[in-house]
Amino acid sequence: MRIILLGAPGVGKGTQAQFITGEYGIPQISTGDMLREAVKAGTPLGKQAKAVMDSGALFTDDIIIDLVKERIAQDDCRNGFLFDGFPRTIPQAEALLAEGITIDSVVEIKVSEEEIINRLSGRRVHVDSGRVYHIEFNPPRKEGLDDETGEPLIQRDDDKEDTIKERLSVYKEQTEPLVAFYRNLGGQTAYHTVEGQGSTQEIWQKISVML
Ligand code: AP5
Repeated sequence: MRIILLGAPGVGKGTQAQFITGEYGIPQISTGDMLREAVKAGTPLGKQAKAVMDSGALFTDDIIIDLVKERIAQDDCRNGFLFDGFPRTIPQAEALLAEGITIDSVVEIKVSEEEIINRLSGRRVHVDSGRVYHIEFNPPRKEGLDDETGEPLIQRDDDKEDTIKERLSVYKEQTEPLVAFYRNLGGQTAYHTVEGQGSTQEIWQKISVML
């Protein structure tokens, strides 16, 4: 099963990815998480990525495409994978086609802009695992600590209100064209849209029927 989760920042892609990968036993490939790991490790890629991510802009297509190609060549992707936050531009989607990588389902999650700002400003994450919480909507059992490891949760640097607005505008300009791209792609790729308002379980129920 090869799935793409599409949608603006904060619609709940990472949250739903946890349900989908659990159900289908496929890895989550989040280009955002991959870049954040490079930032944390202080690699040259991470140093280059940090400034771009903090500004709300997108990172270079060629580097992202190479990272993804390398990742999906790994053994755990034999039976499929879930892309979360990739592809994000038409050139990234075209690179998948050029490589002959077919996608079974694209799931677009839609949420209002006001709700996105509420969600992102209250988001807290566990860096090592990628587990996502919200101080109000999905709080950890102990405030500020990851449920599984007890390690501290952090607020992402790009979850400040001004950066969130920039990310939303970048989404509209560079990523939203992928909606028409995948709707019109045809072939074996099914396109689904889900309203992302409601509890995380309710949204997962809706997605699970589509897949
Ligand atoms: P990335 O990490 O991909 O961020 P994003 O797409 O902006 O998405 P988010 O992780 O912010 O949101 P999400 O939809 O996963 O929501 P979540 O589940 O966390 O990218 C970051 C940056 O990296 C980019 O800006 C760019 O610079 C770079 N980058 C990454 N990929 C790239 C690429 N392919 N090309 C170029 N550059 C790239 O949920 C959000 C919050 O809401 C959480 O607190 C959660 O608990 C809460 N929540 C979730 N569901 C619900 C619900 N149903 N009800 C209430 N609250 C909910």
